[in-house]
Amino acid sequence: MPLPTGPGRMPDPSLARVQYSRRAGHYDLELMPFEPVRRDAIAALELQRGATVLDVGCGTGLSFEGLRQGVGAAGRIVGIEPSPEMLAQARRRIQGRRWNGIELLEATAAQAPLEGLADAALFHFTHDVLQDEAALDHILAHLKPGARVVAVGLQWAPAWCVPVNMFVLGAALYSVTCLAGLDQPWRLLAARLRDVRVRTPGFGGVYIASGDV
Ligand SMILES: C[S@@+](CC[C@H](N)C(=O)[O-])C[C@H]1O[C@@H](n2cnc3c(N)ncnc32)[C@H](O)[C@@H]1O
Repeated sequence: MPLPTGPGRMPDPSLARVQYSRRAGHYDLELMPFEPVRRDAIAALELQRGATVLDVGCGTGLSFEGLRQGVGAAGRIVGIEPSPEMLAQARRRIQGRRWNGIELLEATAAQAPLEGLADAALFHFTHDVLQDEAALDHILAHLKPGARVVAVGLQWAPAWCVPVNMFVLGAALYSVTCLAGLDQPWRLLAARLRDVRVRTPGFGGVYIASGDV
């Protein structure tokens, strides 16, 4: 039985909003140790100049710089994010750098008012979205055939890696609303893609999953 104030077995967007409204002000600092993983994830997207990429659960927009380098000034980034506080930070980042071509949608992944078909999608540390089949179906329905998809996040390491798993548990209790699926967080997404590859750097506690629509 899920606790009313903590993570349960199903994603809970209302609880996620509470979690991230509290974290928005210091979120970028907390994510600093994972920036090398972010770079690997964006490289795995194999972005082309002029492409459109969906940044699902974009948070404060930490991926925008790397995505922009991939798609170039003529490309387009669509950030989907339900937390107004996280989105406000993303907006500040865009204005501060005077970036064009980035559109922000304040919505959950399942309900984002997407138009047209994108060339790629990034799910960077978005465990809740990856456990939500309706969200995955909605996002994938707005990708071109052959579009590249990359998902990154934390997962249970092998049982003998006790310190890694203690870290994963602590991070999950702090960051997600759905504790289900941490053994293979990418499983529902992988079932919808072809040529799926999953790498697990960092003693197995981090995964980078990629595939094509
Ligand atoms: C750990 S943060 C990752 C943010 C960003 N992708 C990054 O790498 O820095 C998870 C983000 O997913 C967002 N999120 C939670 N539930 C969501 C949903 N159902 N649809 C879209 N985004 C969601 C949260 O508000 C939060 O900003």
